[in-house]
Amino acid sequence: MFARRTFTAAALALLAGTGLAQAQTAKPVKMAYALALNSHYGAGAQAWAAHVEKATNNAFKVQQFPASALGGERELIEGLQLGTIEAILVSTGALSNFVPEVGVVDVPFLFRDTAHARKVFDGPIGQGLLDKFKQRGLIALAWGEQGFRHLSNNKLPVNTPADLKGLKIRTMENPVHLLAFRTLGASPTPMAWPEVIGALQQGVIDGQENPLSVFVSAKLWQVQKNLTLTGHVYAPVALIVSPAFFNGLTDAQKTAFIEGAKIGAKASRDFVDDVEAKGVAEIKSHGVNVVTQVNKAPFQAALTPAYQQYAAKFGQQTLDQIAAVK
Ligand code: PAF
Repeated sequence: MFARRTFTAAALALLAGTGLAQAQTAKPVKMAYALALNSHYGAGAQAWAAHVEKATNNAFKVQQFPASALGGERELIEGLQLGTIEAILVSTGALSNFVPEVGVVDVPFLFRDTAHARKVFDGPIGQGLLDKFKQRGLIALAWGEQGFRHLSNNKLPVNTPADLKGLKIRTMENPVHLLAFRTLGASPTPMAWPEVIGALQQGVIDGQENPLSVFVSAKLWQVQKNLTLTGHVYAPVALIVSPAFFNGLTDAQKTAFIEGAKIGAKASRDFVDDVEAKGVAEIKSHGVNVVTQVNKAPFQAALTPAYQQYAAKFGQQTLDQIAAVK
């Protein structure tokens, strides 16, 4: 009896010791993104991190760097390439400069609705785009979601393309978006996200465009008077890891990161579903004038010259393939 007790105590001590050793040696993973912890990015990142830590028995400790703490999205992508950051969640904004093929999803009015977009990103086209990242020194694991982008500004309620004339709109640093707003007659200014709120406050720009998920989590009602639900572009979010980090993992650890990214992507979509249901009421409650019904046909017609350039750049066949997904 005494011997059994002694053995059990020794085994427990050993296990406790092992747990302690594991906690002490957990490898830190920097996970960075542009928005707050309580955003769709934060939801995705925390779900991703929780899965990785659990599935690897705490071999990793994921440190969250929300709210552009490690820089704008361009810096985050460069950080992955350099191996100074292990994991990020980013929009397609700066990505087009690194993986130009991804720019095709930024073509305005390409996706009919959320179900269409999710089908494309979850299918062979989405996987094909994820595969393109490897050639650019990045490993993309999943597509999450931000939602459809809408236009906000401080000058007037936008109803038609004519209302955009001369409006100083901040766009992402993305050639597809720039061309669209230039073609619509606006005066687009590409700008990294960390500068946007200050630029709106100072009146350097009149407006910006982002999904409801961003408008709500960044409390853009503090700096914007009008919002029009243009839904001009569907915005995914890419969950990406650094090759320097990922290639050094065991197969089981790689699987934990891949599965975790899928879980994180789903968490971002769930967050977006919620904000799409409640966001407009919340934004209105903060005094923003929201134009909820807008005729998209005149915007699409005004974009005709841009569509010709998009077809030349990405191939009409690719655009048709995306449009044909049912
Ligand atoms: O507008 C942008 O730059 C992006 O949508 C944001 C807000 C940084 C999220 O990725």
